[in-house]
Amino acid sequence: MKTLLAGKKILFGICGSIAAYKAAEWVRELVKAEAEVSVVMTEAATHFVSGLTFASLSGRRVYTGMFEKDAGEEMTHITLARECDLFVIAPATAQTIAKLAHGFADDLLSVLVLAGNTKVLVFPAMNSNMYCHKATQANLFKLQEYGYTVIEPEQGKLACGDDGVGRLVDWKTAREKIVSVFTRQDLQGQTVLISAGPTWESYDPARLLSNRSSGKMGYALARVAKRRGARVILVSGPSAIDPPPGVEMINVMTGIEMHDAILAKYESADIVVMAAAVSDYRPGKKMKQKVKKSGTSIELELIPNPDILKILGYKKKKAIRPLLVGFAAESKGHVEEGRRKLKEKNLDLIVINDIIGTDTGFGADTNEVSLIDRNYQLEKLPLRSKEECAEMIWDKIVNLNR
Ligand code: PMT
Repeated sequence: MKTLLAGKKILFGICGSIAAYKAAEWVRELVKAEAEVSVVMTEAATHFVSGLTFASLSGRRVYTGMFEKDAGEEMTHITLARECDLFVIAPATAQTIAKLAHGFADDLLSVLVLAGNTKVLVFPAMNSNMYCHKATQANLFKLQEYGYTVIEPEQGKLACGDDGVGRLVDWKTAREKIVSVFTRQDLQGQTVLISAGPTWESYDPARLLSNRSSGKMGYALARVAKRRGARVILVSGPSAIDPPPGVEMINVMTGIEMHDAILAKYESADIVVMAAAVSDYRPGKKMKQKVKKSGTSIELELIPNPDILKILGYKKKKAIRPLLVGFAAESKGHVEEGRRKLKEKNLDLIVINDIIGTDTGFGADTNEVSLIDRNYQLEKLPLRSKEECAEMIWDKIVNLNR
């Protein structure tokens, strides 16, 4: 399957900031994703990183001036501006932001912005006093009025030694912003509540009952929903994965905590997707001290956890909202079990995955799922990365949500 950025023509403007070196990684990642990247550098940017670095990474000529000798008859600024699908400016300095806000056209980068009519993403990076200064803020406001998207920089330690807002966002955040330009915004206005990962049910201070869920499937669903314009609330059991940019995270440990978190947010959601592997049972007693080895067998009483999805299905009864999506982790009788759970939990859709294969289900980077909708229509999806799988699941949900 082609990546979302394959063949996209991206004009990448780089300004004179120490963060210019980070743009090298962004260009490399974009090229890896099969985007066609043309780099434009301001004169100041070339003092921080050489044009040769970007020419090598992009595999294309790097543009630095309006009057370059080999430009020939071609009107570089018009051609570059006309041909691109997206203009990314990163890092965007206070100087360039000010120029763009006031319509200056005294270098190639600012000329290209004025001459083009594509989407512009501006990623500011600078000292926090410069960023917070009323002049910069007023200029950024203007850029947004012109229809450019400004991505707020991060808080943290800055190159100048100060702590504050002004750090260029990381690649993961940038990637989501770039990819969302090319993504249908068909979840705009929807609040989606997603659960992911396992639960940990403690037995004593050292031991617990859990399962092999990594959170990959649920996090991919959250990332894709955010990209498609939703407000995303992600309730996650313990997972080693970084939270997807822009989602509201609620971290929980046990099935009871997950139950409480989901029920607290349920009423604000238009769509609920339960991808978490909630432990069906928990130890009846939690020991305060570590249980000592005695050499003889011991008994462990397990009591049932609440079935969160079943509770939601019951609460919903015949109402239309929220749309309820469950997952089924099965090792045999997949379709029959899926159908049974769909009915029993009053769902709109169930996503069935096989947990026996090595490239599906728990922990895998890929998944191969079947969908059964509320009309008992069965659809088998191909083996894909969990992110692509999430895309296809959201396609189905969007259809059911119409
Ligand atoms: O996290 P990964 O490593 O990427 O793996 C993904 C996954 C295999 C965990 C995921 O794709 C998946 O199948 N999740 C559901 C696992 C599961 O608990 O299946 P189940 O058949 O036991 O439960 C059916 C549904 O009821 C699920 O939506 C589950 O979230 C929900 N449930 C289950 C038990 C419970 N006490 N409360 C619930 O709400």
